Amino acid sequence: MKHLFLIFLMNLLHQYAGKSLRRDGSSLKSFEDIKNEIAGYTDIAKAIIDLAVHGKAQNRSYERLAVFADTIGPRLSGSKNLEAAIKYMFSALQKDGLENVHLEPVKVPHWERGEEFAVMLEPRNHSIAILGLGNSIATPPEGITAEVIVVASFDELRQRTQEAKGKIVVYNQPFISYGETVQYRLQGAVEAARVGAVASLIRSIASFSIH
Ligand SMILES: *[C@@H]1O[C@H](CO)[C@@H](O)[C@H](O)[C@H]1NC(C)=O
Ligand SMILES: *[C@@H]1O[C@H](CO)[C@@H](O)[C@H](O)[C@H]1NC(C)=O
Repeated sequence: MKHLFLIFLMNLLHQYAGKSLRRDGSSLKSFEDIKNEIAGYTDIAKAIIDLAVHGKAQNRSYERLAVFADTIGPRLSGSKNLEAAIKYMFSALQKDGLENVHLEPVKVPHWERGEEFAVMLEPRNHSIAILGLGNSIATPPEGITAEVIVVASFDELRQRTQEAKGKIVVYNQPFISYGETVQYRLQGAVEAARVGAVASLIRSIASFSIH
């Protein structure tokens, strides 16, 4: 049975509007230098661990995570939410009385989710719940309409290279472990492009999905 999908992804702003910045002028250190430098922080690291695990700061990470999740939400780089999160942490660290709490300007990639949807057109009209992966490239304004090819692995995709050309690759990979299966999220679009496909869809990287 043939399945025809329409995918529509529209980013508001171009991917990588900014570039990551690195501090210049840092000289290369030998492994031994780095080892010694790290060893110099042993007492400080122990004090931090004691404070966080047994001391005054016990549960603080969890409590702050709860504040982030409840009041700030997802924090994509370059987003307003990230700014709010940074401000929150800046003032929290100041309140904790830490030394040298300061902010520095930094350039980060900025990607905004626009409008997005996917519809199965054949064998019947069916709207599909999707979420574009961060840094996804926008489709043309009219979206992409193409037949799909369903594969269970990258190997299968490579074996079916001829068939995949011009199609939307749907990865129906079995969940093995997060570390292993996440490759489909990281490399799925790249591998699909390599065989001449026009788009790719993946399932959640989880053992269970409500969609
Ligand atoms: C941290 O949470 C545990 C479990 O809820 C609780 O028993 C403990 O008293 C908390 N510690 C502090 C410092 O609030
Ligand atoms: C599919 O259904 C949606 C709403 O359910 C409708 O807007 C759209 O026109 C339909 N498309 C086709 C090709 O029938």
